[in-house]
Amino acid sequence: MWAVARIGRRMPWYDQGGRFSGLKLATLLCLLAPAVWVLLQIPLELLEPRPVTLAIHATGLWAIRFLLLTLFVTPCRRIFLWPRVFILRRMLGLSVLAYALGHFCLFIVDKAFDLGVVANELVLRYYLTIGLLALFFLIALGVTSTDLALRRMGIRRWRRLHGLVYPALFLALVHFFMQSKLDVTQPTLLTGLALWLMLYRLVDRRFGRQRALGPVWLLSLTVATTALTALGEALYYHLAIGAPAILVLRANLSLGPAGWRPALIVTLSGLAVVIVATLRRLARHAARPMDGGLPQ
Ligand code: HEM
Repeated sequence: MWAVARIGRRMPWYDQGGRFSGLKLATLLCLLAPAVWVLLQIPLELLEPRPVTLAIHATGLWAIRFLLLTLFVTPCRRIFLWPRVFILRRMLGLSVLAYALGHFCLFIVDKAFDLGVVANELVLRYYLTIGLLALFFLIALGVTSTDLALRRMGIRRWRRLHGLVYPALFLALVHFFMQSKLDVTQPTLLTGLALWLMLYRLVDRRFGRQRALGPVWLLSLTVATTALTALGEALYYHLAIGAPAILVLRANLSLGPAGWRPALIVTLSGLAVVIVATLRRLARHAARPMDGGLPQ
């Protein structure tokens, strides 16, 4: 009975102290939702005519999205003065691995379980080889994400190994770009968000040691990332189909038939971070007791 209770406390909705966490449960449900939705769509025939291919796309896309979310935990903790968010990091990281493995398994299903064909394609198609390398990195991160692995490896070696998350992200994005045909809206958007996260880390390491980066820094990061995303997209279309760069750049200013462009979504996401960070600081400032008391 005692052992059952102990195992129960290891469920993902308990925190490290064995207390029930509503935050962890809500996050778990959100992480499961895309997989459940993909599974539901199959009997409902919403993925016809190529259910496996569409499921491959959905799982790959969610793997990268959750990877970015995992990398947002550290900024989130510092910028929003929210240390508790750290309890979600392992769960988020493992969800990336789960979706990436699901993605790979679906690829095997798509090849009718012919492992010879699978191996052949993994070697011959560069974008698949790159995806496989990203998957290896994610597996290395996943299997060493336990407390036991951390204790055995020691914090320094563990941290060095977990630096693999950056090459994994890079390779996953390259894999995404390479398999996209002409429309690179999604990979450009996710690359823009990844750029924000990387720039944040660089700037925070250099200037934010004592205190978290303030709203002015965050705004500057957002402006820089927006510019790089817009220029990157224009350059891609120019090189790929010879589209005039100015036309692609101008599309960022209109909400025309091409829909919201990646640079615009990066701007809005960055601004949302600035606004929440500012509100958090104001709230903390207001809650702080006044120094010095009233003048005599
Ligand atoms: C052995 C490893 C992998 C294999 C065999 C593989 C295979 C594939 C295949 C067959 C496609 C669809 C290509 C097409 O329809 O033309 C694809 C797309 C994709 N993959 Fe992978 N992949 C692997 C690893 C990964 C990993 C590790 C990630 C992310 C962490 C990832 C993310 C994606 C994304 C985002 C897409 C595009 C989804 C979309 O178009 O909406 N893949 N992959």
